Amino acid sequence: MSKTAGSAARVDVLRGNDRSAALYEATFRRLQARVKALPSVWLYDERGSRLYERITQLPEYYLPRREAEILRARAEAIARRTRARTLIELGAGSSNNTRLLLEALEAAGTLESFVPLDVSEETLRTTANTIASAYPGVSVEAIVGDFERDLETLPGRGARLIAFLGSTIGNLYPDERATFLATLSAGLAPDDALLLGIDLVKDVARLQAAYNDRGGVTERFVRNALTAVNRDLHATFDQRRFGYEARWDPDNEWMDIGLRAHGTHTVSLPRLELEVVFEDGEPLRIEISSKFRREQFELEAGRAGLRVASWWTDRAGDFAVALVRPSGKETRNE
Ligand SMILES: C[S@@+](CC[C@H](N)C(=O)[O-])C[C@H]1O[C@@H](n2cnc3c(N)ncnc32)[C@H](O)[C@@H]1O
Repeated sequence: MSKTAGSAARVDVLRGNDRSAALYEATFRRLQARVKALPSVWLYDERGSRLYERITQLPEYYLPRREAEILRARAEAIARRTRARTLIELGAGSSNNTRLLLEALEAAGTLESFVPLDVSEETLRTTANTIASAYPGVSVEAIVGDFERDLETLPGRGARLIAFLGSTIGNLYPDERATFLATLSAGLAPDDALLLGIDLVKDVARLQAAYNDRGGVTERFVRNALTAVNRDLHATFDQRRFGYEARWDPDNEWMDIGLRAHGTHTVSLPRLELEVVFEDGEPLRIEISSKFRREQFELEAGRAGLRVASWWTDRAGDFAVALVRPSGKETRNE
């Protein structure tokens, strides 16, 4: 673990070399799967993270506004019920909606530290320093890490609230989600809680519009994954040979977001010693965004040893925020 001083926030970088090796290995594997894909982490280099911030402002992309509506109404109750001394945020990004939690926990007088964790180092450093200046009474201890690999070592004193906002849980495949929830669950103390931002199944036209904005920002965000792979792996993806496509998959109830090959062609990834042939019209998946139903989520949580203590939605019923506890472990806070 390496530490960087010199800013108001502390930033720990976890196993950077291991993380790159794991990403390269996953890239090698997914490009040879039946449905070719890239790990979605490739989306979030510095430029990608900036593009994601622009997506959150788009009129079509309702998710962050719905989540904020719920948190504005419920943050005080969340603070009262969790009495969290440590707020951990997985996939923090710019932590915009998290400020609603920080304010409520500060007002409740319990919060001592904020631990944002993200794979995108530049964005995380900016977030950590901005939050540290805005909340001088809170110690900010950021972690550059991977929420699929670094969950066992989550820090924290006293009751912890672990937030996973922005529908990021929907970006995990079902098997990854099961592992993620089970690993988190195993590390929870009785007074800890999870807070998840969950996008719900809804009208297909609205879902498709959210990922096909008229200004093409989402397309640029998705294409940036190819740019990042070309840069880091010296790959030869040619943007002109792929078209953008984001469509609803009714069987899996997820948005399938990626690119489709124009013309049969070969892409080289010399750093992986890999050549990949794309047939004309073949998809390359970059990300999924699963949409949920309450009963199905409660079942999944239950299988991971978790229980949904509260499930709040916005007035339109578009989005949910779930407060989740370890099941079978008695808490003093509820
Ligand atoms: C959908 S964005 C959500 C950002 C923020 N929570 C919000 O609600 O606006 C996903 C965030 O998770 C981060 N991320 C993606 N995969 C990750 C991983 N495996 N480990 C850690 N962070 C990851 C990205 O860098 C990005 O900041």
